[in-house]
This record gives sequence, C-alpha cells and structure tokens, in this order.
Amino acid sequence: MNKSSQMEPVIIVLFGASGDLSARKVIPALYNLHLDGLLPQQYAIVGVARSSLTEETLRERFRQGVDQYSRRGPAKEQEWDAFAEHLHYIQSNYDEPTLYDRLTKLGDTGWETPPNIVFYLATPPNLFTIVIDQLGRFSELQGDIRYRIVIEKPFGHDLHSAKALNQRLLQVFEEKQIYRIDHYLGKETVQNILAFRFGNAMWEPVWNRNFIDHVQITVSEKIGIGRRGQYYDSAGALRDMIQNHLMQLLCLIAMEAPTEFTADQIRNKKVDVMHAIRAINKADVPAFAVRGQYGQGWMDGQPVQAYRCEKDVDINSNTETFAALKLFVDNWRWQGVPFYLRTGKCMPGRVSEISLQFRPVPHHPFAHLNTQVFQPNRLVLQIEPNEGVVLRTQAKEPGMGMKLKPVDMSYCYQDVFHQASPDAYETLLVDIMRNDPGLFMRADQVEAAWSVIDPILEVWSENTELNFPNYQAGQWGPPEAESLVAQDRRTWLLPISFEPKRGGCSVE
Ligand code: BG6
Repeated sequence: MNKSSQMEPVIIVLFGASGDLSARKVIPALYNLHLDGLLPQQYAIVGVARSSLTEETLRERFRQGVDQYSRRGPAKEQEWDAFAEHLHYIQSNYDEPTLYDRLTKLGDTGWETPPNIVFYLATPPNLFTIVIDQLGRFSELQGDIRYRIVIEKPFGHDLHSAKALNQRLLQVFEEKQIYRIDHYLGKETVQNILAFRFGNAMWEPVWNRNFIDHVQITVSEKIGIGRRGQYYDSAGALRDMIQNHLMQLLCLIAMEAPTEFTADQIRNKKVDVMHAIRAINKADVPAFAVRGQYGQGWMDGQPVQAYRCEKDVDINSNTETFAALKLFVDNWRWQGVPFYLRTGKCMPGRVSEISLQFRPVPHHPFAHLNTQVFQPNRLVLQIEPNEGVVLRTQAKEPGMGMKLKPVDMSYCYQDVFHQASPDAYETLLVDIMRNDPGLFMRADQVEAAWSVIDPILEVWSENTELNFPNYQAGQWGPPEAESLVAQDRRTWLLPISFEPKRGGCSVE
C-alpha cells in the first residue's frame, strides 16, 4: 500500500460531522490510518454540520469516538494531538449557499500539489440530494477525478428512489467520481472470498450445481436497534441488510471468475449474478421470503424489550427485524441450487457465515449403523467475528470397525497472519484516496439489487403482518423461517461457532 509520502494531498469534507457515523466509524478509521502512516503528508478533514459546536468541542467529540470505537482502544495524548491538528469545523445548514462558496475555495491551500477533494456524505439520507445539488456550483467539478463523492447507505428506499438518486448524482459527478459505500466489501474476510475462489484451482471444478446442494448466508446480530429507531422503523431488515450486504456476499459466491482483477471486471461479474437472480412474482413472495419481528425476550440472562417498545418505533410497527429469502441464480453454474439468506436483530449471537453445503455421497459403502453421524461436506467461510475457513469432512474414528465422524480442516486468520485486520472503513477510505472504486457499488449494481427485493418490499408494505412479534429476542428468528427451508427438506445450519463442540475459529 502507498505510504503517506507517495499519496497525493487530500481534503476530506465530512458532511454530517456531528453524527453517530462520523464518530463511530469514519473518524476512528482515519485516526488509525494516521497511526499507520497511510494518510498523505498533507491532509485536512473539514467537518460540516448544523450543530452549534466549536472546533474544540468537535475534536473532543471525535476523540471520544476514537476512545470508544477504535480497534486500537483509547487514543494516546501525543498521537491524538498530532491528528487533531488536521480537524476543522464549519457550522452551517446544508442548503446554505455561503457554505459552498467557502468549500469552492478549499483547493487554494498553497500546497505544492493541489489536493484531491473528497465530499463524504455521512448525513441522514434525506439530506443527500440537498448537498449534491449544491455541489453543482463547482463548475469545474464534473469529470475531474480530483473531486470525489462518497455516499453512505441507505442508497434509496426502493428501486424508484435509487434510480432518482443516481440520476441526481450523475448530473453533478461522473460515475468514476462516485463511491457508494457498502462497508461489508471492505472487510478482510469478504475480500478473501475472491482470493479463496480464484487463487486456488481446487474449488472451481466443484463450485457449481453438480456438487453443491445449497448455499446458506447468515448474518445475525445480537444487538437490537439501539438509538436508530427512527431510521430503522422506516427501513427494516430487508432494506438495511439484505439489499446491500447479503446480496454482495451472494454475488461474491456466485460470480464467474474475472479475467483481470480490475474494478469494472469484478463489478461486471457481480451485476451478471444479480441479473440472473430469478425474479419473484408478488404472488410468490410468501414462498420465497419470510419476515420476523422480535418481541420481548431474554439475552445473556437479561430481559430485552420488544421491538415495538424501542425508542422512536411505532407501537404498531409492521417493520421486520428479521428477514429470510430463498433465491435462485438462473444460469448454467447454479441452476436449481437454492441460496438461503437470513439476517436479523436480537438473535442469539453476532455471526456472519457463508456455508456451501455439498451434495451427499451417491452411495454409502459403510454399514448403516457406523455412519449415523454422517454429514455431507460443508465449506464454511467465517466472515466475522471469527475469521476463517472450515471444510467439514468425514474421517474414520480410531478404534475397531469403520466408524465415521465429521472432522474439520480449518484455518483462522488470527493464527495464520498474526496481525489485526484493518477495519473495513480504513480499507475503503484508502481506496477512495487512491481512486480505486473496486470495493464500491456502481449505479447498476445498486439498482439491480433493488430490483430483486422490490416485489417483496411491495408485498410486505401492502400487507400488515398480523403475527408480529413472531420471535422472541434471543432466538434464531420466527418458526416461518424454518418452514422456508423445511419445505425443501432442509434445515438452517447452526453457525459453526455455535455448535456444542465449537468448530472453526473462535475469538470470543
Ligand atoms: C449496517 C446496518 O449497514 O450494518 C446496521 O445499517 C448493522 O443495522 C450493521 O448493524 C452491521 O455491520 P457490521 O459490520 O457490524 O456487521
């Protein structure tokens, strides 16, 4: 990676500087890059927000964010002071023309190399278009790669609004200047999927419908919605997690090999997958999608209140906190192989895992009694919090006779690499500064992902779910989720780190 001296100077304009995302993710990531020498020698971070703060109080707020959320723990005095010198604040309304007059002068730094200017929209989504329209004042901006815009999710609310937002962005910027964030793509273990698939010859021959029975993608979260009730109650699990993070994981598993490791090659292959996902007719939605909402329950011995009692949530809310889908990818590689996706809040644990379940052996030469614990092969990509890969195989148990037992061949990131993975935001910020859009969502990708889920969103919003709440906080979702896979004579696989005799990697 480029060290600071080789990187071009940059000014990051952080809209929404007083918000949660800035303090929790963006600033801790920038601070860690500063510690690692991965920021340019000349840089400035200019926070913009409506809050009446001084530069000092903003810096203090950012410091608290770093102390609380940085992967390295609390900042050290001298290191923080060196970083804080680069932080500035402008208090303004987002539609205030004088703000943008000031911003147009940011490039006049007197630095030997003029800085790249990154506009980072960490604001609530209803402010995106206000800021984008105002940025249209920069007459020299369109097409000039020195100017980039970073836009956080949610990118639209459905296909229609996502298209409208794309159109608006493209009136001011060109696609090559736009960085739509899906932070899952910055995670090391997510990037490793490509290395695992296309850096090893042994997987390709079996990575298809001839060998794989089905794929399961589980992203479960232990946390509820915290203080995000206002946003979450209008979003729900399908928009919040499946449209972006889980769809991207599916694409990485299902895509064809790129001929070159370039941003557009990879994004083209992913879009191909989304276009191949079988459209779900509105009438078929109940057979392919299940929604859930947590009610009161227990987690770690503590009572947890129902979703509908959370702050800023409608007491009769119809919003799902759990969603499960069955999708088919209609192409030669995957015809007939179901991809089961599930995600939810207030589930028994935080785990992101992808399981490829292989077909059973065609014939057992072993006596029936000796193979009772037989399991078909299963390849598990552990995304987080445990990071690793597990291949479950059968072995002969030592002793008389031929008794088979499942055993795991696995590796854990922490054991192999002996170094902490950078936070996803660190990777993404470096890529933005280096002008490498490979880990970001292109306009057509976002729209294709919305196309897949739009019919489900429509059916769910038109029909109130009378069974809500239908799972207790602390459970793996509602019983209907079991039925979704049971109708295909399958079950949800318990994440490998939840098995009684923990398999795979374990950091917790
Ligand atoms: C965000 C969602 O995109 O991802 C949150 O809006 C969710 O609701 C978060 O909690 C999960 O991210 P991670 O990195 O903790 O798995």
